[in-house]
Amino acid sequence: METMMLLVLVASSVLSVFFLRKLLSSSPKEMEAIPGSLGLPVVGESFSFISAFSSPSGIFNFMKERQERYGKVFKSYVLGRFTVFMTGREASKILLTGKDGMVSLNLFYTGQQVLGPTSLLQTTGDAHKRLRRLIAEPLSVDGLKKYFNFISTLAVDTLEQWPAKKKVLVLEEASTFTLKVIGNMIMSLEPMGEEQEKFRSNFKTISSSFASLPFNLPGTAFYEGIKARDSMYEMLDSTIANRRSAESSHQDFLESLIMKHTKSGDGKGDDQENKLTDQQLKDNILTLLVAGHDTTTAALTWTMKFLAENPQVLEKLREEHRLILVKRSDGATLSWSEVNNMPYTNKVINETLRRATILPWYSRKAAQDFEIDGYQIKKGWSVNLDVVSIHHDPQVFPDPEKFDPTRFDAPLRPYSYLGFGNGPRMCPGINLAKLEICIFIHHLVTKYKWTPLEKDGSVQPTLVRMPKNKYPVFVESL
Ligand code: HEM
Ligand SMILES: *[C@@H]1O[C@H](CO)[C@@H](O)[C@H](O)[C@H]1NC(C)=O
Repeated sequence: METMMLLVLVASSVLSVFFLRKLLSSSPKEMEAIPGSLGLPVVGESFSFISAFSSPSGIFNFMKERQERYGKVFKSYVLGRFTVFMTGREASKILLTGKDGMVSLNLFYTGQQVLGPTSLLQTTGDAHKRLRRLIAEPLSVDGLKKYFNFISTLAVDTLEQWPAKKKVLVLEEASTFTLKVIGNMIMSLEPMGEEQEKFRSNFKTISSSFASLPFNLPGTAFYEGIKARDSMYEMLDSTIANRRSAESSHQDFLESLIMKHTKSGDGKGDDQENKLTDQQLKDNILTLLVAGHDTTTAALTWTMKFLAENPQVLEKLREEHRLILVKRSDGATLSWSEVNNMPYTNKVINETLRRATILPWYSRKAAQDFEIDGYQIKKGWSVNLDVVSIHHDPQVFPDPEKFDPTRFDAPLRPYSYLGFGNGPRMCPGINLAKLEICIFIHHLVTKYKWTPLEKDGSVQPTLVRMPKNKYPVFVESL
């Protein structure tokens, strides 16, 4: 994995030379007025960045060192980009609100190619707003209700397998669980069988191409990613065609988007504004998969890890769930109203996302010139919000290393906690992610206990922070 990341950055540096014009739009000379160091030629500060990246505390120390030296805004050259890092509530308000189209999302080149031009992640302004509106309903709390039974049954079935194993790799189990959930939501995929396997293998290949070498040659991760994407789109095409011809109706995401939002061939008819072409439909279903899978997998894994490391928190969490059991009539299983009334569990989730900060920085591209903290940012520059420092600000979170869900007892000031982001690009999957975690945690803490098998705190050097050893545990029934 490390070698891969290193290759990526070397390749991106090479690539930068190919895209000289792009490079010039944020050249070191233009950035002269911004404090900071661009490090060594070609690789810049990438080596120290990557080594910080995979340490237990992540990029925190990298950021802290530079913020102490230069202040809240500084420049660097990492992962093939000249970039400006910023932190603090003011910067997050400016960057995340993105008022007047000041900034747009800043994806890696390969990610852009794999996701397709009509992906939510590649649109801005009104087109972005419109796509957000279209996906909001199926991802709303009410829209998710119909998947509740599937998710709860799958969580029970997954957990039942655990005590029989010598070693449970939580990260892998969480990954399988969340992928089965989203496959069922999107197109009613059964949790077992050939289609599920195909879906899974395509997705894995797409996922590992997302920040890969930008060379589209047979055998490269990028090439395989595009191929897997096309194969995934064929699966979606045939499901869409079936849905259109068959009488049968399904209760899934695809159905709801097809029913409401398919553009008719002639482009006429009423309400065309609110309809999607098949291409837009597919690009955005893939976008939800890519944005939602690793994040939820990581969140679930970190939650279990922090709980095991903090027995008092685990005990308090168990109390909340035992009380649910006590109030429930005999023979009944977890219900929709119960899952929507787990206040302490929600604080545990927020605290997990604060401590782990699984997306350590949010990346934007300046869409026009603007000023921040007295510094001029020029159109085209890459700007990153350092979220780790925001989440470890001792003024807002005293003793920031401590895992303490009661921090969320009282509401926090806006932009001081960014677990799901904020503003027009705030995570649209927040309800789904929380639903999956609440359900899983309920069945877990009421029936099982787990013991970690290793004490390694290292983190994978991938875009989403996850325990490098996949968090191996031993599980027993209570
Ligand atoms: C615990 C799990 C999750 C976490 C921590 C998380 C976190 C985030 C954050 C921080 C952002 C904003 C990034 C930025 O401003 O640059 C974001 C955006 C996004 N998330 Fe999530 N997410 C999670 C789960 C999901 C799920 C389950 C889905 C889909 C079903 C999803 C879909 C998306 C999409 C599509 C965006 C981009 C929104 C846009 O650009 O308008 N996420 N997520
Ligand atoms: C958790 O954080 C979200 C913002 O991401 C906030 O809306 C919510 O109220 C928080 N929940 C709790 C229980 O603090």
